[in-house]
Amino acid sequence: MGNPRTISLRTTSFLPTKSNKRIKAIAHEIKGLVKGIIDKRVEQMKKGEIIKQHGHNKGLSIDDVIEECKLFYFAGQETTANLLVWTMILLGQHKNWQDRARGEVLKVFGDRKPDIDGLNQLKVINMIFLEVLRLYPPVAGMPRMIHKDTKIGNITLPAGTFIVLHTMLSHHDPDIWGEDVKEFNPERFSQGVSKATKGQTSFIPFGGGPRVCIGQNFAMLEAKMTLVMILRRFSFELSPSYTHAPYLIITVQPQFGAHLVLHKI
Ligand code: HEM
Repeated sequence: MGNPRTISLRTTSFLPTKSNKRIKAIAHEIKGLVKGIIDKRVEQMKKGEIIKQHGHNKGLSIDDVIEECKLFYFAGQETTANLLVWTMILLGQHKNWQDRARGEVLKVFGDRKPDIDGLNQLKVINMIFLEVLRLYPPVAGMPRMIHKDTKIGNITLPAGTFIVLHTMLSHHDPDIWGEDVKEFNPERFSQGVSKATKGQTSFIPFGGGPRVCIGQNFAMLEAKMTLVMILRRFSFELSPSYTHAPYLIITVQPQFGAHLVLHKI
């Protein structure tokens, strides 16, 4: 996605270079690992340990299932980890929001173990995550190929055009978000997403339409659970050694890491 290295990799991907050999070896290893998990499940199904949910077995081949597993793992792990890392950085910078989030956790759960009902009540933490996803959307842009001539406003896109829907640009547009667009201000989501975006489809961290992220609710729940556990145990701030450098390497990551100082509570 807009990364020249990705393009050069594609055009030279058949050459037996050192890195291509490594890419191939890693792909082979991952395929073997996922296949191992699938084989185990197939074995269990044969033994009748897993009840088949769908009567017939048409549709996906084993290779398709391997690809789906890889997509789920990659799409789910990397992105949610990114959301949490940027949340830690921003809450390390904005102690007032960290305190508000911790206050909410204590109010909702007290000493109780986090449960699904409680997680769904976390309004402040939800606002914080939305604001983090606005400022640092893990998926910065979505590539699309236009299949038939398409007119959008006064632009005509011929079939075969490659476009990128730029999440980052849309999330940083002052015409949509206002003068404080560059600031971390979770309050803007206090009345929900549609109020914050004035009803426009300009907040798209999980994409939209038929290809919208299938794991979005799971991701938010998982991230909430993790943050609750961190906030209960630690207070944290940014280390002076932290260098702010958002960097696009498939997802948006802090290039030099997230240097944080944690204090046990
Ligand atoms: C903060 C976390 C996440 C973010 C920001 C995110 C973002 C996205 C975005 C933007 C898309 C649409 C891509 C496109 O239209 O080209 C997408 C698709 C997808 N996501 Fe997520 N995702 C997250 C978590 C997850 C999790 C936890 C899972 C699975 C457990 C997951 C599984 C998928 C899958 C399978 C698709 C493809 C759906 C399809 O094409 O039909 N994602 N995600």
